[in-house]
Amino acid sequence: MAEPDQPSTARMIDFWLGGEHHYPVDVAAAHAFEAAYGPCPPVFRALRAFLGRAVRAIAEAGVDSFLVFGAGVPTRGNVHEVAPEATVLYTDVDPVAIRLGQRILADSDRAGYGYGDATDIGTVDPAQLHRFVPGWGRRPVGVIFLGLAAFLDDETLARTLDELYEAVAPGSFLAVDIDGEELAAYPEALAMMGPAFRMRPPASLGPLLGRWVPTDDGVRPVAHWRADGPPGEVPDAFFGAVAVKPVG
Ligand SMILES: C[S@@+](CC[C@H](N)C(=O)[O-])C[C@H]1O[C@@H](n2cnc3c(N)ncnc32)[C@H](O)[C@@H]1O
Repeated sequence: MAEPDQPSTARMIDFWLGGEHHYPVDVAAAHAFEAAYGPCPPVFRALRAFLGRAVRAIAEAGVDSFLVFGAGVPTRGNVHEVAPEATVLYTDVDPVAIRLGQRILADSDRAGYGYGDATDIGTVDPAQLHRFVPGWGRRPVGVIFLGLAAFLDDETLARTLDELYEAVAPGSFLAVDIDGEELAAYPEALAMMGPAFRMRPPASLGPLLGRWVPTDDGVRPVAHWRADGPPGEVPDAFFGAVAVKPVG
């Protein structure tokens, strides 16, 4: 695979998580970001651990297939690794992420990777959806929407979450996070996130969820969401929730 000449946030996260799927351009960008903000590995470990607890909770509720948007690099405690009995379709809009993901998952018969624009569910390949998220719209599924909301404006995010609500069967779950206002104190790091990046206070997520009903845990700093021990000392950079489309 030709080496990309632009960094990607998804591969920077892989670097911070100690993964193997990033390039020198990503490492350089990760070091520049850390110089402007601070050490990122614990922050992204807390976010990935939230993904793990959320996916396990959804699987324990009886869900056995997942659709992942803005998936990035499908390793380091990602969905199919924490729910190995489930089938998983990872999607992203970045062609490099898609090629990388397809290579990583080439030997898997339970997890696949394809194109999918989260803001238009119709862009997901129906054949892949049918294979990895069987009964889409008729059986409960888990929709994973992490690391993505920060790149969508409020109107687009609310519409997208509502379209997903409409598309899934009752009993389906959504795991979602927003970027808090942590970077406001680090203007240089904030500028590196680009003009489309949106920070939001935690109270803003509830209204954006629309008809999705958050679990009793509500919207919490990700390290605190059903923490399975004392939460690590990490800044509240991300706030997450799991929400359900109620049955009946
Ligand atoms: C910050 S990364 C997060 C990756 C992954 N979810 C994680 O937590 O490691 C954001 C990802 O969202 C993807 N993305 C951006 N806009 C998107 C859209 N409209 N639909 C789907 N993916 C999108 C980017 O290509 C990128 O891979």
